[in-house]
Amino acid sequence: METPEIVTVERTAAVATVTIQRPEKLNALNARVVAELTRAFAGLAASTDPEPVRCAILTGAGKAFVAGADIAEMATLSTMEAKRFADAGHALGALIEALPFPVIAAVNGFALGGGCELALACDFIYVAEGAKLGQPEVNLGIIPGFGGTQRLVRRVGAARARELVYTGDMITAEQALAMGLVNAVHPAAELLLRARDTALKIASRGPLAVAASKRVMLRGEALDLPAACELEAQAFAALFGTEDQRAGMTAFVNKSKAAFTGK
Ligand code: COA
Repeated sequence: METPEIVTVERTAAVATVTIQRPEKLNALNARVVAELTRAFAGLAASTDPEPVRCAILTGAGKAFVAGADIAEMATLSTMEAKRFADAGHALGALIEALPFPVIAAVNGFALGGGCELALACDFIYVAEGAKLGQPEVNLGIIPGFGGTQRLVRRVGAARARELVYTGDMITAEQALAMGLVNAVHPAAELLLRARDTALKIASRGPLAVAASKRVMLRGEALDLPAACELEAQAFAALFGTEDQRAGMTAFVNKSKAAFTGK
């Protein structure tokens, strides 16, 4: 008999919802969960479905989004095994960032350690009231290994990131909102609905334009301002000559709704 999958993917229209289903361990990321998440997102990227995914939501089953990397599994790792585990986490983050559509993290509960890092690899985060976020690795004698020391600095600034990483403190949803770590706090029962509303709105926009925005904003972070602006100008220009640009502008002029094809 096949082992049931821990990571499930559900499609509704152009929106895919990826759910980590290991609630008995608060969705802790062991090697298998990381591999299944990688497979799930790679599958969405490679899909030849006639209706392509235009936005995805990543969430967790039960009371946690992800309570961190699996401490029980990490406890016995050698230095080399730990490097491989970190590499797998980084590859997953890079894969999410390279997807040609946005991924919204719907943080339904604890997002700690690798959970916070996974959410940070998504385009932005919505969080449920009562959720707790943080990078508690220093309590275990280690540091964040799935991009936390880097993406957290870029998201909330060096001073706030340092305080979170050095203290290992958990913060509330409201504190996370105040520091710009998350975009919105929603009642738990509405979290997925709100994420879906936004995902559907994004899915209705010009897909090539959304993909180009994501690519340019992410790549631009690693460049100086003139190089980043040049990257933007090239992407802007490349969209002229696409069916989407013609459809979008013609619809505006005709006061109608654009039918985007992603071509
Ligand atoms: N790795 C492995 N197992 C984990 C885990 C993790 N990161 N987080 C939770 N679990 C497991 C617990 O061991 C427990 O398993 P058990 O029932 O077999 O004993 C189960 O999930 C439920 O967790 P529990 O601690 O009983 O829930 P709680 O509501 O009392 O506490 C937390 C919730 C999140 C505060 C607590 O689980 C915790 O501190 N987890 C570790 C957080 C962390 O340090 N993450 C960073 C890792 S780098």
